[in-house]
Amino acid sequence: MTNLKYLVPKRLRRWLNRRRQAAGRGLLVFDRVTDWSVLRRVRPYRPNFGVARGEPIDRFYIAKFLTTHQESIRGRVAEIESDQYTRRFGGDRVQHADILDLNDQNEQRTIAIDLTKTADTPVSEFDCIICTQTLLVIEDYGAAIRSLYRMLKPGGVALVTVPGICQVVRGGMIGGVGEDWWRFTGRSASKVFSEVFSPENVVVQTYGNVLAATAFLHGLVQEELTQEELEYNDPDYELTIGVQATKQGIG
Ligand SMILES: C[S@@+](CC[C@H](N)C(=O)[O-])C[C@H]1O[C@@H](n2cnc3c(N)ncnc32)[C@H](O)[C@@H]1O
Repeated sequence: MTNLKYLVPKRLRRWLNRRRQAAGRGLLVFDRVTDWSVLRRVRPYRPNFGVARGEPIDRFYIAKFLTTHQESIRGRVAEIESDQYTRRFGGDRVQHADILDLNDQNEQRTIAIDLTKTADTPVSEFDCIICTQTLLVIEDYGAAIRSLYRMLKPGGVALVTVPGICQVVRGGMIGGVGEDWWRFTGRSASKVFSEVFSPENVVVQTYGNVLAATAFLHGLVQEELTQEELEYNDPDYELTIGVQATKQGIG
């Protein structure tokens, strides 16, 4: 049966989605959490990372990680699923942007790729690959890391984020193909990337604290924490893990 949503033109669909999201986020004023006693409950305060009310908390740390490494976002850049971070952090340094995805429903995709089929991926194509919140949905994440390595030019950089403390992601929340498989720690991320890129080419940074993690699990959004609360880094509460992995060689 034809999926009804494909009868609505793509641009109109995007516009309607943006309007719906903006309307939902406007409602934050009515259920903003100021008194944390409302979080004494066994079901989350809000589902789905709070996307209906504002920016999810993990996105603060992903943006922080990419800001730190934005100089690496240059030349030919590939990103998984969309080019949102390439455009936001790459600016004029980007000569060409590609969007990689296995999902054939992704209309923005410019290159169809299965990251687990390493031998079929292009060789030494990209100066930078942005791979945020993706390895968690790939059962064979080791193959995916080998694909990132293979696709990079010598001297090229993979900028990867993976979740640490996080609820289970199901169905429509995945945003593409795959299932929720993995969580990482700073230590495990460092190990699995070092095995492919070698340890001296891997830099890992972890982000988060107990308050941000609690808020994130309840679907509170960035707008409900202060900058100071979001920024505080407690290495024992890894909410987001960022990996900068460089392919050895001169670009
Ligand atoms: C959870 S989404 C996250 C992507 C996005 N970069 C973000 O930060 O939200 C994971 C993406 O990886 C894609 N994906 C899943 N398995 C894949 C695979 N084996 N090869 C390539 N893409 C894959 C999914 O279709 C989806 O677009």
